[in-house]
Amino acid sequence: MTARKPLVAGNWKMNGDIVSNEQLFTALRADLGRASLSQVEVVVCPPYPYLGQAAAWLGDTGIAWGAQDVSTQPNGAYTGDVSAAMLVDLGCQWAIVGHSERRQLAGETDQQVAAKVSMCMTRGVGVIACIGETLEERESGHTEAVLGRQVDAIAAALVDPAHPLPPGRVVLAYEPVWAIGTGRTASPEIAQAAHRFVRERLAQRGYGHAGATRILYGGSVKPGNAASLFAMADVDGGLIGGASLVADDFLAICRAAAVA
Ligand code: 13P
Repeated sequence: MTARKPLVAGNWKMNGDIVSNEQLFTALRADLGRASLSQVEVVVCPPYPYLGQAAAWLGDTGIAWGAQDVSTQPNGAYTGDVSAAMLVDLGCQWAIVGHSERRQLAGETDQQVAAKVSMCMTRGVGVIACIGETLEERESGHTEAVLGRQVDAIAAALVDPAHPLPPGRVVLAYEPVWAIGTGRTASPEIAQAAHRFVRERLAQRGYGHAGATRILYGGSVKPGNAASLFAMADVDGGLIGGASLVADDFLAICRAAAVA
């Protein structure tokens, strides 16, 4: 079996300010020593305006930082967009793409998500590509059809031989929409079944590193449920929303991943 180092990423969403961020960065710096970081990869994704602050506070720690989105375009007249090249310019190592909030609120399509994956590949930005079904899709028996469609678009970008990303820089995040911010976590068994399906689908679509790709679970991960989720064979860490804003909770989740 391929060894996959667990990864925990904090998606701060549209939260924080200079003062509260500083408190959070200070707590992460103080607690996450080299020893724990040798067992878990930690990424913090604040809003765009605070990426420079993340660089200043985390640059020398081994904790990586990332953006919550990236443009489908390389540069030009795209007001409000931020390109992968700009992220690289700042020293930003990761970008989340295809979060369900962007798919739902900004109408992002599978093709746009794939274009974002391609942009990250072109510039060498590590990608955390999100997928997940809604409650209605799950209850009507369409979970695998939805995940399959979403994974196919991402896989089509990943197999582009022109700009391969090293396998360790390709991460998928299964985030069932019904579990995001609701307190209703997927059971470990539901998460495992979805993760296994996603990994097999990546392989079926010709992505040669499916076995080495980390697949994170996201959706109401808390210190109390993290260990049981991370214990599943195909759950390689977590993408954490609300709990990533509370230093003690995020640190506890990172520790749960380190011992999983
Ligand atoms: P919560 O952890 O707040 O449910 O959010 C999950 C998420 O959307 C992370 O990207």
